[in-house]
Amino acid sequence: MSGQLSKHFRGSSRTSNVYGSRFASQDMPSQYFPEEEMPKDVAYRMIKDDLVLDGNPMLNLASFVTTYMEEEAEKLIAESSNKNVIDQEEYPKSVEIEHRCINILASLFHSPSENEQATAVGTACIGSSEAIMLAVLAMKKRWQNAREAMGKDTSSPNIIMSSGVQVCWEKAARYFEIEEKFVLCTTTRYVIDPVQAVDLVDENTIGICAILGTTYTGQYEDVKGINDLLLQRGLDTPIHVDAASGGFVAPFVNPSLEWDFALSNVISINVSGHKYGLVYPGIGWALWKSSSYLPDDLIFNIDYLGSDQLNFTLNFSKPASHIIAQYYQMIRLGRRGYTAIMANLTDTADYLASQLSTLGFTIMSEGGGSGLPVVAFRLGPQQGFLFDEFAVSAKLRERGWIVPAYTMAADAGMSMMRAVVREDFSRSRCASLIGDMRWALRALVEREVLNVQRYQAYLQSQSQNLLGMKTVYLEKACLEKTCVQVSQVEPKA
Ligand SMILES: Cc1ncc(COP(=O)(O)O)c(C=O)c1O
Repeated sequence: MSGQLSKHFRGSSRTSNVYGSRFASQDMPSQYFPEEEMPKDVAYRMIKDDLVLDGNPMLNLASFVTTYMEEEAEKLIAESSNKNVIDQEEYPKSVEIEHRCINILASLFHSPSENEQATAVGTACIGSSEAIMLAVLAMKKRWQNAREAMGKDTSSPNIIMSSGVQVCWEKAARYFEIEEKFVLCTTTRYVIDPVQAVDLVDENTIGICAILGTTYTGQYEDVKGINDLLLQRGLDTPIHVDAASGGFVAPFVNPSLEWDFALSNVISINVSGHKYGLVYPGIGWALWKSSSYLPDDLIFNIDYLGSDQLNFTLNFSKPASHIIAQYYQMIRLGRRGYTAIMANLTDTADYLASQLSTLGFTIMSEGGGSGLPVVAFRLGPQQGFLFDEFAVSAKLRERGWIVPAYTMAADAGMSMMRAVVREDFSRSRCASLIGDMRWALRALVEREVLNVQRYQAYLQSQSQNLLGMKTVYLEKACLEKTCVQVSQVEPKA
């Protein structure tokens, strides 16, 4: 068919059917605002088709963020997604629901109370990162005000944290010009050392961050240990607990753990509603033990939305839908429901850890409910593979799994993998992952053997030129070792 004919043919044959329309044969707009409209069904289909290339959230074990909610919760989210909770005058019920959530969290985190009313105050945020920014600002401002009142220098605030903090802490420190004082993780300790943390305190310290469930291994940092040491040394240094994940796990799995407002120096806490709070992204919460920890000059009075209202957030507009969804989960599940889910997740994480350990991996997380339901692991020295965790992660991707490999906090400097066990990661899905992990290891070992054999054959063919190079013998030794590994990863009967 000639070029002209085919052009004519194409033009006349266009239909209103999505894939027969002209849009199906054009690039999607990506640089400029399109001149013309696109029919809604075509726009929907084109975007949906693009998104097919995203990973499957259910198989994404990289993320702490909720990937399953009941239909009723999804319905509430859809029905309230056009409400902006900043409009307090227009949406008073949504605002009240935010306050209910804050009260419920305050009591869960053992807020002191006065006249049977929790003293803790708080706000909904887009996630823990925003909550942490606010908490850091509040600590800095409080420290500044106290120093100014004493006529002292306020130019060099610092904050103490472990090098295993989530990146939002480093952001907060840099954005707000606060020196980061790190307690370094080591190859055997992946959390803060309380003694080293308290040793770093000086007159310019605005606070200490303690993590309830580190991003790397899910371990809880010893908040009580830090608190007790501060008391012993007569220091009133504030502690902020980053309970992004643990805030919705520890109270149910490990209720006797002391980490929250019950400790004298814990003045603020953040928790992500969209992690183990069981709500889709983005909702987080920031709480302060009482309003006295929130300096007045950070709170804005907004009066142009119809009423006077106090506001302490980074963003102005915010969807009401996720606050409502958080409240749904709280009243739908109650303590009993959250406890049942978190207990199942803890069991599944322990099962996964035991199976990975059988395959020869070294488990770096704690298990048994003493940390988050997260399994951090690395290739064991006894496995002796030449490939690394990044290769295992890439191989698992072929079966749809997203199990990330990454390098542990800089100073500990080792590579590792991590699987976050979330609500929809049932025992049977866990069994599928273990089967695929066995498959991945076997495939990688087979590939390794093949490569070594090819390399050896190449070296032998070149041996005339390479006379005297001992490498040939080294490679041979390596091949023999790898062949033993193949038989070791065969599933046990
Ligand atoms: C310990 C910790 N803090 C803070 C954050 C940031 O939370 P968000 O994603 O809710 O902003 C994370 C996220 O994984 C985290 O694990």
